[in-house]
Amino acid sequence: MPDNAVVAAIKNDHRTLERMFDQLRKNPDEKTLAEMSILFVAHGKAEEAEVYPKLAVKSPEDKGDVFHGVEEHREAEEHLRALQAAEPGTEDFTDRLEKFVESVDHHVEEEESSILPELNQALDEDEAARVAEAFHQAEEAEKTRLAATSGRDLDAMSKEELVAQAERQGLTGVSSRTKDELKTELHAALNPKV
Ligand SMILES: [Fe+2]
Ligand SMILES: [Fe+2]
Repeated sequence: MPDNAVVAAIKNDHRTLERMFDQLRKNPDEKTLAEMSILFVAHGKAEEAEVYPKLAVKSPEDKGDVFHGVEEHREAEEHLRALQAAEPGTEDFTDRLEKFVESVDHHVEEEESSILPELNQALDEDEAARVAEAFHQAEEAEKTRLAATSGRDLDAMSKEELVAQAERQGLTGVSSRTKDELKTELHAALNPKV
Protein backbone atom coordinates (compact mmCIF):
# COMPACT_ATOMS: atom_id res chain seq x y z
CA MET A 1 0.00 0.00 0.00
CA PRO A 2 1.52 3.39 -0.94
CA ASP A 3 1.91 5.99 1.81
CA ASN A 4 -1.13 8.24 2.23
CA ALA A 5 -0.66 12.03 2.45
CA VAL A 6 -0.24 12.22 6.22
CA VAL A 7 2.18 9.28 6.42
CA ALA A 8 4.22 10.81 3.59
CA ALA A 9 4.34 14.20 5.37
CA ILE A 10 5.47 12.62 8.64
CA LYS A 11 8.17 10.49 6.99
CA ASN A 12 9.39 13.53 5.10
CA ASP A 13 9.95 15.36 8.41
CA HIS A 14 11.76 12.32 9.82
CA ARG A 15 14.24 12.32 6.92
CA THR A 16 14.76 16.09 7.29
CA LEU A 17 15.45 15.65 11.01
CA GLU A 18 17.99 12.91 10.30
CA ARG A 19 19.82 15.21 7.88
CA MET A 20 19.80 17.93 10.54
CA PHE A 21 21.30 15.53 13.11
CA ASP A 22 24.22 14.88 10.73
CA GLN A 23 24.60 18.59 10.09
CA LEU A 24 24.70 19.23 13.82
CA ARG A 25 27.36 16.54 14.30
CA LYS A 26 29.54 18.09 11.60
CA ASN A 27 28.84 21.67 12.48
CA PRO A 28 27.50 22.12 16.00
CA ASP A 29 26.23 25.69 16.15
CA GLU A 30 23.36 27.67 17.64
CA LYS A 31 21.57 28.21 14.34
CA THR A 32 21.45 24.53 13.36
CA LEU A 33 20.46 23.59 16.91
CA ALA A 34 17.59 26.10 16.80
CA GLU A 35 16.37 24.91 13.39
CA MET A 36 16.47 21.26 14.41
CA SER A 37 14.78 21.96 17.76
CA ILE A 38 11.97 23.92 16.13
CA LEU A 39 11.21 21.16 13.63
CA PHE A 40 11.49 18.36 16.20
CA VAL A 41 9.19 19.93 18.80
CA ALA A 42 6.68 21.25 16.24
CA HIS A 43 6.53 17.86 14.51
CA GLY A 44 5.76 16.01 17.75
CA LYS A 45 3.19 18.56 18.91
CA ALA A 46 1.41 18.45 15.54
CA GLU A 47 1.34 14.65 15.64
CA GLU A 48 -0.18 14.78 19.11
CA ALA A 49 -2.71 17.48 18.20
CA GLU A 50 -3.92 16.25 14.80
CA VAL A 51 -2.69 12.75 14.00
CA TYR A 52 -2.48 10.53 17.07
CA PRO A 53 -6.03 11.36 18.32
CA LYS A 54 -7.43 10.64 14.86
CA LEU A 55 -5.85 7.19 14.88
CA ALA A 56 -7.09 6.49 18.43
CA VAL A 57 -10.67 7.31 17.38
CA LYS A 58 -10.64 5.52 14.03
CA SER A 59 -8.83 2.48 15.33
CA PRO A 60 -9.23 2.04 19.12
CA GLU A 61 -7.13 -1.13 19.16
CA ASP A 62 -4.12 1.07 18.26
CA LYS A 63 -4.55 3.36 21.29
CA GLY A 64 -1.69 1.62 23.13
CA ASP A 65 0.73 2.56 20.36
CA VAL A 66 -0.50 6.15 20.52
CA PHE A 67 0.08 6.41 24.29
CA HIS A 68 3.50 4.86 23.87
CA GLY A 69 4.31 7.36 21.12
CA VAL A 70 3.41 10.30 23.37
CA GLU A 71 5.61 8.90 26.16
CA GLU A 72 8.52 8.69 23.75
CA HIS A 73 7.96 12.31 22.66
CA ARG A 74 8.22 13.41 26.31
CA GLU A 75 11.41 11.39 26.77
CA ALA A 76 13.07 12.80 23.65
CA GLU A 77 12.01 16.35 24.59
CA GLU A 78 13.71 15.91 27.94
CA HIS A 79 16.94 14.91 26.16
CA LEU A 80 16.53 17.90 23.86
CA ARG A 81 16.22 20.33 26.80
CA ALA A 82 19.43 18.88 28.27
CA LEU A 83 21.11 19.37 24.88
CA GLN A 84 19.89 22.97 24.67
CA ALA A 85 21.50 23.69 28.05
CA ALA A 86 24.94 22.66 26.71
CA GLU A 87 27.34 24.85 24.77
CA PRO A 88 27.67 23.76 21.10
CA GLY A 89 31.12 22.40 20.38
CA THR A 90 31.75 21.08 23.91
CA GLU A 91 32.09 17.42 24.86
CA ASP A 92 28.91 17.74 26.91
CA PHE A 93 27.05 18.90 23.83
CA THR A 94 28.31 15.94 21.76
CA ASP A 95 27.31 13.44 24.48
CA ARG A 96 23.86 14.96 24.90
CA LEU A 97 23.34 15.17 21.15
CA GLU A 98 24.01 11.43 20.83
CA LYS A 99 21.61 10.62 23.69
CA PHE A 100 18.90 12.75 22.09
CA VAL A 101 19.48 11.29 18.62
CA GLU A 102 19.36 7.77 20.02
CA SER A 103 16.00 8.39 21.64
CA VAL A 104 14.58 10.01 18.49
CA ASP A 105 15.90 7.21 16.25
CA HIS A 106 14.22 4.67 18.49
CA HIS A 107 10.92 6.56 18.38
CA VAL A 108 11.02 7.12 14.61
CA GLU A 109 11.71 3.43 14.04
CA GLU A 110 8.73 2.44 16.20
CA GLU A 111 6.46 5.09 14.70
CA GLU A 112 7.30 3.98 11.17
CA SER A 113 6.72 0.33 11.99
CA SER A 114 3.51 0.69 14.07
CA ILE A 115 1.63 4.02 14.03
CA LEU A 116 2.27 4.96 10.41
CA PRO A 117 1.20 1.61 8.87
CA GLU A 118 -1.88 1.73 11.15
CA LEU A 119 -2.68 5.24 9.86
CA ASN A 120 -2.33 4.02 6.31
CA GLN A 121 -4.92 1.33 7.07
CA ALA A 122 -7.30 3.45 9.12
CA LEU A 123 -7.75 6.53 6.87
CA ASP A 124 -9.14 6.69 3.37
CA GLU A 125 -7.60 9.08 0.87
CA ASP A 126 -9.88 12.05 1.67
CA GLU A 127 -9.46 11.66 5.42
CA ALA A 128 -5.69 11.37 5.02
CA ALA A 129 -5.62 14.57 2.96
CA ARG A 130 -7.61 16.43 5.63
CA VAL A 131 -5.44 15.14 8.47
CA ALA A 132 -2.29 16.00 6.49
CA GLU A 133 -3.53 19.58 6.08
CA ALA A 134 -4.39 19.88 9.78
CA PHE A 135 -0.97 18.43 10.68
CA HIS A 136 0.75 20.93 8.42
CA GLN A 137 -1.15 23.89 9.91
CA ALA A 138 -0.56 22.82 13.50
CA GLU A 139 3.14 22.32 12.76
CA GLU A 140 3.50 25.76 11.18
CA ALA A 141 1.78 27.42 14.16
CA GLU A 142 4.12 25.64 16.58
CA LYS A 143 7.14 26.59 14.49
CA THR A 144 6.16 30.25 14.73
CA ARG A 145 5.71 29.99 18.51
CA LEU A 146 9.06 28.23 18.95
CA ALA A 147 10.98 30.54 16.60
CA ALA A 148 10.51 33.35 19.14
CA THR A 149 12.72 31.45 21.61
CA SER A 150 15.12 29.78 19.14
CA GLY A 151 13.43 26.41 19.59
CA ARG A 152 13.35 26.42 23.40
CA ASP A 153 9.96 25.30 24.70
CA LEU A 154 10.07 27.46 27.85
CA ASP A 155 6.58 26.38 28.94
CA ALA A 156 7.73 22.76 29.18
CA MET A 157 10.79 23.57 31.33
CA SER A 158 11.15 22.97 35.06
CA LYS A 159 12.61 25.73 37.26
CA GLU A 160 15.98 23.92 37.18
CA GLU A 161 15.90 23.72 33.39
CA LEU A 162 15.03 27.41 33.13
CA VAL A 163 17.92 28.30 35.46
CA ALA A 164 20.32 26.17 33.37
CA GLN A 165 19.10 27.90 30.20
CA ALA A 166 19.43 31.34 31.79
CA GLU A 167 23.00 30.64 32.93
CA ARG A 168 23.84 29.37 29.46
CA GLN A 169 22.53 32.67 28.01
CA GLY A 170 24.81 34.57 30.38
CA LEU A 171 22.03 35.97 32.59
CA THR A 172 23.16 36.63 36.15
CA GLY A 173 21.54 36.26 39.56
CA VAL A 174 19.11 33.77 38.07
CA SER A 175 18.63 31.36 40.97
CA SER A 176 16.59 33.92 42.94
CA ARG A 177 14.17 34.54 40.05
CA THR A 178 10.67 33.07 39.86
CA LYS A 179 9.72 30.77 37.00
CA ASP A 180 7.75 33.53 35.29
CA GLU A 181 10.60 36.03 35.61
CA LEU A 182 13.00 33.50 34.14
CA LYS A 183 10.64 32.83 31.23
CA THR A 184 10.30 36.54 30.46
CA GLU A 185 14.05 37.16 30.61
CA LEU A 186 14.82 34.09 28.53
CA HIS A 187 12.21 35.04 25.99
CA ALA A 188 14.01 38.35 25.49
CA ALA A 189 17.49 36.77 25.49
CA LEU A 190 16.63 33.98 23.05
CA ASN A 191 14.58 35.95 20.58
CA PRO A 192 16.55 35.80 17.33
CA LYS A 193 17.42 39.26 16.10
CA VAL A 194 16.61 39.24 12.43
FE1 LIG B 1 7.06 11.50 13.81
FE1 LIG C 1 6.32 10.98 16.86
